Amino acid sequence: MVDASNYSAAEQLRDGRAVEIRAQRPTDLEGLRNALRRMSEETIVRRFFAPRRSFTPQEVASFIDIDFSRHVALVADLLLEGRPQIVGAGRYIVSSPETAEVAFAIDDDFQHRGLGTLLIKHLVLIARARGLRQFVAEMLPENTAMLGLMRKSGLELTTHRDHGVLRAHAQLRRAVPHL
Ligand SMILES: CC(C)(COP(=O)(O)OP(=O)(O)OC[C@H]1O[C@@H](n2cnc3c(N)ncnc32)[C@H](O)[C@@H]1OP(=O)(O)O)[C@@H](O)C(=O)NCCC(=O)NCCS
Repeated sequence: MVDASNYSAAEQLRDGRAVEIRAQRPTDLEGLRNALRRMSEETIVRRFFAPRRSFTPQEVASFIDIDFSRHVALVADLLLEGRPQIVGAGRYIVSSPETAEVAFAIDDDFQHRGLGTLLIKHLVLIARARGLRQFVAEMLPENTAMLGLMRKSGLELTTHRDHGVLRAHAQLRRAVPHL
C-alpha cells in the first residue's frame, strides 16, 4: 500500500513553473490559514457552500488531523518570493468502502492554471492504489469550473442534482489517457 503521508511529486504549472504536489503535514496549519485568508468570498462559498471565514476547533482538527487512510489531503506548494507557499489543496475522505468524497480549493490568483488537474491526478493515483472505485464531488450547480475539472480528469463521469447541489460520480476504474 502507498504511504501517502510522505507523498511528494514534482510537477509544473501550465506556464512551466515548478510546483510540488505533496502530502499535507500537521505543520501546514498556518500555510492553510494564510491561503484561506487570500481566497475570495466566491471561492470560499464554492468550497464550503457558505461564506465561512472561521471554523470551530473541531473543524480545524478535521482538516489537520489527516490519517492518510480514510482521509488523504494533498497541497500544492509553489515557490513565491523565495519560499514555498501553499496555493491549493485537495482531499478525499472515504465515505463507504469503495467511495470517497473529494474537495478542492485553489487560491484565486492561481485558479485555471492546472493546479486542480494536478491535485486530482495524484489523488486518483493514491485512491486507485488503495482499491477505491469512485470519487464523488459535490458542487453548487453554477460551479462550471469544478464540473470542468471533473470532466477534464478523464474519469467516466455521471452527474445528478440533489436538493440544489450537483453531485458528480467519477469512476476510478477507467484509464485516464491524457494525464
Ligand atoms: C474548481 C477548482 C478546484 C478548479 O481548479 P483549477 O486549478 O482552477 O482547475 P484547472 O486549472 O486544473 O482547470 C481544469 C478545468 O477546470 C475548468 N475550469 C477551471 N477554472 C475555470 C474557470 N475559471 N472557468 C471555467 N472553467 C474553469 C476548465 O474546464 C479547466 O480545463 P481547461 O483548462 O482545459 O479549460 C478551482 O477553480 C477552485 O478552487 N474553485 C473554488 C473552490 C471550488 O469550487 N471547489 C470545488 C467544490 S469542492
